[in-house]
Formats: sequence, structure tokens, C-alpha cells
Amino acid sequence: SAERLRDNAGVTSTLNMKNSCNVLGQLEDLFSRALQAAYPGVTHVASQLQVSKQKQADYQCNDAMALAKSLKKNPREVGEILLKNVPPSPMVSKLELSGPGFINITISTDFIRQQVTNIVLHGVTPPPTTPLRVVVDFSSPNIAKEMHVGHLRSTIIGDSIARLMEYLGHDVLRINHLGDWGTQFGMLIAHLEDRFPDFATKPPPIADLQTFYKESKKRFDEDAEFKKRAYQAVVKLQAHNPIHIKGWQEICEISKKEFSKVYERLKVKIIDRGESFYQSRMESAVKVLQDTGMLEEDEGRKVMFGEGADIPLTIVKSDGGFTYDTSDMACIRQRIEEEKADWLVYVTDAGQGQHFKSLFACAKKAGIYDAAKTRIDHVTFGVVLGKTGRSSRHDQVSDTVRLVDLLNEGLQRSEEKLQEKERDKALTKEEFTKARDAVAYGCIKYADLSHDRARDYVFSFDRMLDFRGNTAAYLLYALTRIRSIARTACIKREDIMAEAQKHPIELEHEKEWKLARTLLKLSDVLLKITEDLCLHSLCEYLFEVSAVFTEFYDNCYCVEKNSDGKIVKINLNRLMLCEATAAVMEKCFAILGIDTVGKM
Ligand code: ARG
Repeated sequence: SAERLRDNAGVTSTLNMKNSCNVLGQLEDLFSRALQAAYPGVTHVASQLQVSKQKQADYQCNDAMALAKSLKKNPREVGEILLKNVPPSPMVSKLELSGPGFINITISTDFIRQQVTNIVLHGVTPPPTTPLRVVVDFSSPNIAKEMHVGHLRSTIIGDSIARLMEYLGHDVLRINHLGDWGTQFGMLIAHLEDRFPDFATKPPPIADLQTFYKESKKRFDEDAEFKKRAYQAVVKLQAHNPIHIKGWQEICEISKKEFSKVYERLKVKIIDRGESFYQSRMESAVKVLQDTGMLEEDEGRKVMFGEGADIPLTIVKSDGGFTYDTSDMACIRQRIEEEKADWLVYVTDAGQGQHFKSLFACAKKAGIYDAAKTRIDHVTFGVVLGKTGRSSRHDQVSDTVRLVDLLNEGLQRSEEKLQEKERDKALTKEEFTKARDAVAYGCIKYADLSHDRARDYVFSFDRMLDFRGNTAAYLLYALTRIRSIARTACIKREDIMAEAQKHPIELEHEKEWKLARTLLKLSDVLLKITEDLCLHSLCEYLFEVSAVFTEFYDNCYCVEKNSDGKIVKINLNRLMLCEATAAVMEKCFAILGIDTVGKM
């Protein structure tokens, strides 16, 4: 069957070297094939595989228990039958029935050696996956308003999700769904006309757009005459009056320039495609919804209810205008029908949960979205709290700190920290600056990504810049230490590669095996993240790799020196392990969007 072909392709290609193997995933395939062969037609048992807690095995399969229960049979017998039906695989060296019916799985040592050697030779490669068209909607601040810490979280998490998908070989569209359309532009343009009458020919020198926004809002609230003009301006803007379009563009440009400063610093790539992009599509989407009887009247508004969602979408306001809901409706249609997306990801704060729940339900009802064909995830996150950690609104970092100031403070703090450790004396000026930037931005990103995104988290520079514990500062430093092992022994990457070309890595010491096994888990960790989109498991894994490396390094000499400090022996096999560890850590950092440095 196609399933079988895919599986064989997976294991075979990993043995033919290039692709890394997602061990757990491949085992699941083996066992589901065993299940098919032993009990054809039984489909309701999901493979239950886990890392073994026992020393003598690597993984454990618990399928027999669940299966025996549903078949009303003896679990040990079922285990026996399952075991016999597991197709032979070069990945597995031993299967053993134990206890009431567990199957213990031992991964072939040759396979482990070959996989680690592959990392040395070819770098870390993705597991085989079917490429999908993915749209990741993230960051998405609002024009003329502040880009706040919530948008920063969305930017960091969304970028990392996009990086993961790109690494796995998917075709990713990174979209900045800017709030660049709506009635607020009426008052902004009216205010622009008063303050900078020649804006159409000379770009208005607005230094602080937020103040400008506040000024216009104040006038809008207090001055009836101005309010009227603001409404007229919206109408003209929507009618595409060239002067009004010009004013709108000027305002958007100023905002976008500000936003791009943040993206540049964080090295985030994203395509601007805001709500305004959907203008004509909103018209047609509303017409379709209207014609198919999806809309209900509600005090002059036109609303739509989706199944299981309590709050309706407001599709048309009582004044005939469109809303955030309308643009998202047109947008989801565009992404599915025009972009031909297989998978939509929206990254926003948890506060928008209801909105998206209604949106997906309505899109389903309207026949735009079919869960069997398109996967949709609303990736949510909690709020960022200030130092005291209380969840009062005033304590949210967003209330007190501008984003650019926050990044600047990060740079400043990172610099102080590195100076405190006297790194300025050990590094050239250029190396120091690189290290400072990597640590500053790395720490901010890592602090965000290493927490369960669903929870609120306390923003603390002191904690994120700590050189102990699960922080980017510690991990980046650990990586430079690993990189320096071969360097101080004057062994070049090519020497290690040449050794790997001659023979697969030799592993003896228990800690060497432990490290090798840990390195092979990367693909499984990544594939699991594609299910829950929780990046903190990648951070946990990265931290685990560095801890297991330390255990190895404390127990196994890579380079032996005599009492005069002269090198007397170099263990190239162990340097291969160092090389593979560094490669795995670098890949994790790359997916997290964190720059690494050679020295710090
Ligand atoms: N601009 C919105 C905000 O700042 C986020 C947009 C998210 N994306 C979407 N398709 N609705 O809250």
C-alpha cells in the first residue's frame, strides 16, 4: 500500500544516509503495520509508544494492553502475536515481551552509530515529510497604534513556527495581517489635512504617530464638527478618492517603517498583507453569505452564527460598514481558495479565542472550510507581566515600555552582563558586539519560547540573562564551549569529517551512548511540535542535550593533556560526538530564530 511505501522510503532513506530518522514515528508505523497484519480491520487502537523507563530497552509499546481490553483477550497473548507481526527493520535490534504484555524495543546500535555519523557528515537533516502549503499569520500589529508586547510574542512564536515548517520542507507563506483598514482612518486623515495640508505632495514629518493618533482621537471625541469630517473622510477613502488614499498610504508607511525596525533587529521575515488587501474580497464574501442565507438581522446589523460558537460574527455594521470579522471571513476564504493552503496558523493572544472560534465555525457553515481538507490552528498565548508578576493590567509590560526601548534595554543589559564576565577583554570588538546582540535578542526570544505559551509569563531581564539554568545566555555559552573543544586541540572540522568518512562513529562509554541516543530524538521532538505547536518542548530538548553533553564531557576525555598542559591524546570519535552535538544545538537555535556565535 501507499502507507507501506512511505514507511519503507522513510527508513530506507535514513539508512541511505541523508535524512535523519524520526525514530518514534518510524516505530509507530512498524507497530501499526503489525496491528494491521495481526488483527486486520481493527483500527480503533492508536499506537501507544513511549521512551522506555527501563535501562535495557529504548522504547516500549503498550498497544497489547489496550487491544486486549477491547478484544477481551489475554494481553500477553496479544503482545506475542503483535510482536511476531512486526516487520523486520534495520532500526530495531531486539523486541521482547515483558510484564503483562509490554513490548520492549531496543534500537540497533549500528543504526544509532550510523545516524550520529550522518549528522557529522551531512549536518542535521529533516525527517521525511509530505510538503504542505502553510499560511502563518503572525505579528500583525495595527497601523498608527503601538506595537506592544503581545505583538512581540506573536512575532517570536509565529516566526519560530514558520522556521520549523520551512525546515521540514513545507511551503510557508508568512503573513503580517496588519490592522490597516477601518473607520479610524477617517479621523486620522481629517487630522492630517489640518496639521499637514500639503501632505499629498510632501510626506508629513510625523515623528510620533501614536501621539498623532491620540490627538485625532481626542478631537473626534470632543469636536462634533471634526467627527463629521472624519466620517466623510472614511467614505471618501472607501470610494478610493486619490487624496484620501494618499493620506492613508502616508500613515501606513510611517507605521510600517517603525514595525520593520523591530523585524530587522529580530531577523524576522514577513510579508505585509493587511486587512485592506481584502477590500474587494469583503464585498464578494458578504454577497455570497447574503445570497446563501447565512446572515441574520440583528438591530440593523447583519450577523452570522456558527455551530458551537455563542458569539456571532458581525459581518455588516448598521451603517453598512465592514468589521474585523468581515475581513477575517474574506481572508480565510482567500487563503483556502486562492492560496490553496493546506494548513492555516493564526498566532494571537488568547483574548481572541472567541473571535477565531466563531470565524472557523462560520467558515465551516458557509462551506469555505472543511476540516477534513484544511488544518487550522489558532495558536494562543498568555500576557506578559512586569516584575511583580501580578496580572493587573497596569503590570503588563505593554503599558509601560515601548518595544524598541525594550530591545534597547536588552542590548544594554546584555552588554553589562558580558562586561561583568570580562568578555570584552577576551573578545575582539567585533566578536563582542556579535555576542552582545546574539545574547540580547536570543534571551528575549528564548524566554518567550521556553515557557508554555498558554500561560502568562513574567518578563525579567535578570532571569533571562542568567548564565545558569535554562536560558539562552547559558545555552549559547555552552555551545561555544563545545565548539572550542576541537579548536583548542587544533582539530578542524574537515579532520573530523574525514574520520567520519572512514568509519561510523565508535561508541563505548555509557555516557557516549546516552548522548548519541539523545541527539537522535530531535526529529521526534520536532514532529511532535507540529502537532501541538508548543515550542517549549524544543527548548526543553535543547536544555536536555546540553545537560547530557555535560555528563558525557565530565566522564569522557576528548582531549588528554599531561601535567604541563601538553596534548598527549586526541579522541576523534569523541570529537565526532561534540561535532554532532553542536550541529543539533545549532539546528534547535535556528528553529527558535536565535543567532549563535563562535565565541562569547
Ligand atoms: N491586528 C490584530 C491585533 O492586533 C491581530 C490580527 C490577527 N490576524 C487575523 N487574521 N485576525 O489584535
